Amino acid sequence: TRVGDLAGRRVVVTAGGTREPLDPVRFLGNRSSGKQGVAIAEAARERGASVTLIAANLEVARPEGCDIRAVSTALELRDAVREAAVGADVVVMAAAVADYRPAVVSEAKLKKDPGSDDGLTLELVRNPDILAELGREPHDGTLLVGFAAETEPDAERLLELGRAKRRAKGADLLAVNRVGWTAGFAADDNVVTVVDGDDTVVAELHGTKSSVAQGILDVVVSKLAPSS
Ligand code: C5P
Repeated sequence: TRVGDLAGRRVVVTAGGTREPLDPVRFLGNRSSGKQGVAIAEAARERGASVTLIAANLEVARPEGCDIRAVSTALELRDAVREAAVGADVVVMAAAVADYRPAVVSEAKLKKDPGSDDGLTLELVRNPDILAELGREPHDGTLLVGFAAETEPDAERLLELGRAKRRAKGADLLAVNRVGWTAGFAADDNVVTVVDGDDTVVAELHGTKSSVAQGILDVVVSKLAPSS
């Protein structure tokens, strides 16, 4: 059974979506609600883990019983997750992290130019890939779990994207799901395929985000080294 199978383990989960400010009132963001990540944090706590939830702009209630660190930008999320990951048994990167941020954050609210009808071009710079950084560094004893939200409609190609992403990021497990304008992010249900370090499909999960969370944790538990 699942009761207590994460007792004595330290699990870090990132959830939500980052917001990258342009000025004091505007940001570039994404549609991630945080539901799937929060469901994983809750399920891990129920199964006995001590859970740190790195919460980026959640649109759902914060779970009870977790150590919660609120962040907003990718750079804040990176600092928080790197700190929390030290000595953790599992890091689950469920948050949707912006790949780019505005090159300049204006101190004053940006104004439109009254003398022209021209559009506006924003310059963006790359954010660090936090999961890939963790994957590149030695992380013995820490199982790294990534997510891939893709719009690819073909199931086989979707799986290949997931496998390639797992490899590129050095994650131990990758959960891939198809998203669209409505599916995935804010929805209550999810459809997720989990691939492991041998490119094997180790779980095909569909159902509520909490049942998907339990299924992901079943795989995590099966991959953890015996605790000392
Ligand atoms: O490359 P992509 O954004 O699809 O990868 C998704 C996975 O990588 C997720 O686990 C996400 O949390 C993580 N990620 C990250 N840093 C970024 C972008 C994504 O850690 N800058």
